Amino acid sequence: MSERRVLLIVGGGIAAYKALELTRLLRKAGVAVRPILTRAGAEFVTPLSLSALAEDRVYSELFSLTDEAEMGHIQLSRSADLVVVAPATADLMAKAAHGLAGDLASTTLLATDKPVLMAPAMNVRMWEHAATRRNLETLRADGVHFVGPDEGAMACGEWGEGRMAEPEAILQAALALLAGAGAPPPAIAAPGPLAGRHVVVTAGPTAEALDPVRVLTNRSSGRQGFEIAGALARLGARVTLVAGPVSQPTPAGVSRIDVESAREMLSACQAALPADAAVCVAAVADWRPDEAFGVKLKKGKDGPPAIRLVENPDILATLSAAGPARPALVVGFAAETNDVEAHALAKLKRKGCDFIVANDVTQPGVMGGAENAVLIVSRDGVERWDRAPKAEVAARLADRIARALNA
Ligand code: C5P
Repeated sequence: MSERRVLLIVGGGIAAYKALELTRLLRKAGVAVRPILTRAGAEFVTPLSLSALAEDRVYSELFSLTDEAEMGHIQLSRSADLVVVAPATADLMAKAAHGLAGDLASTTLLATDKPVLMAPAMNVRMWEHAATRRNLETLRADGVHFVGPDEGAMACGEWGEGRMAEPEAILQAALALLAGAGAPPPAIAAPGPLAGRHVVVTAGPTAEALDPVRVLTNRSSGRQGFEIAGALARLGARVTLVAGPVSQPTPAGVSRIDVESAREMLSACQAALPADAAVCVAAVADWRPDEAFGVKLKKGKDGPPAIRLVENPDILATLSAAGPARPALVVGFAAETNDVEAHALAKLKRKGCDFIVANDVTQPGVMGGAENAVLIVSRDGVERWDRAPKAEVAARLADRIARALNA
């Protein structure tokens, strides 16, 4: 493997000492290592030890004449087959997620055209913070690979998730990526908090046939539900998306079942069980014509036909009903125009679900727009989330679902 090359970015955290061992292991495996040491990283390991183990010089400065003369930073960012960030601090993850390029490490991550593997390391609260969760989701969506972090005792005296993966695990993940696998094999990839879980998501409108050409439907775009299905898949869940007629692309890693009517949607959901969670985002038609005519209704001397409506099944209430097939967590949505919290609580009880995600659709730009401001109502209380893009609301909700299932 002598031609394999890793660009190793060492961030500033106590776990930086493990980057030395990782360097040694990579060299032993015949991989060339070119280190970039951040200014904070240099507080924990010396350029000299890193350079000695890597058998290469250490790059540190973006605006260094000598560095630039030897190799421009753009060239440096592409000089390897794989970029490994270990430790990937909260700061480095945030910079990479937002495309900041104020120093050599972040510039390299923005400029590289090679796969990137991050080994996060930080305090458990920092790892669990909503900002880091969002950055993780963004980076995952951008195709960044992750290994770890592990759970355990931390240098700061706390215990939890945030310890950098062991050098041997990072080595294995790096070798898998260098072998051209595209993604590390599941055994060593960061499994994601929803790995092994199955989630059913409903999205979009339903269309209730009146005759072979006419339907009763609504204007739901399906966007929020599709975003949620994608966000759940990115956390490792197996996702079955039961979609009404919409023109949304299927999110990566999601298996989609297209349906038309509420009754078809309910059957598809029930056929997809068992599931650990169900998220009912679809705008299901409350009523359908009591009869779908087999041939197109014609204009005639009798005037317009009278259409009688009958009630559709309530998918959310049906999936929430107690029984062996009930998912452990059932989430419903509610669009309200007044007394959002009170109505959401009433709906929670009426439907028998575990969370209601409620939004005030009188707020400008919420209905059909790109942003949403929601309340998460459960028996434990109410969480109020600030207005955010729907993709971000989806990522946060997926994370909230993961925490509820793993509690
Ligand atoms: O009853 P209402 O339409 O206000 O409740 C909205 C919630 O119920 C959403 O989660 C929606 O997906 C779900 N629902 C359903 N089946 C219906 C009506 C609503 O699953 N027939």
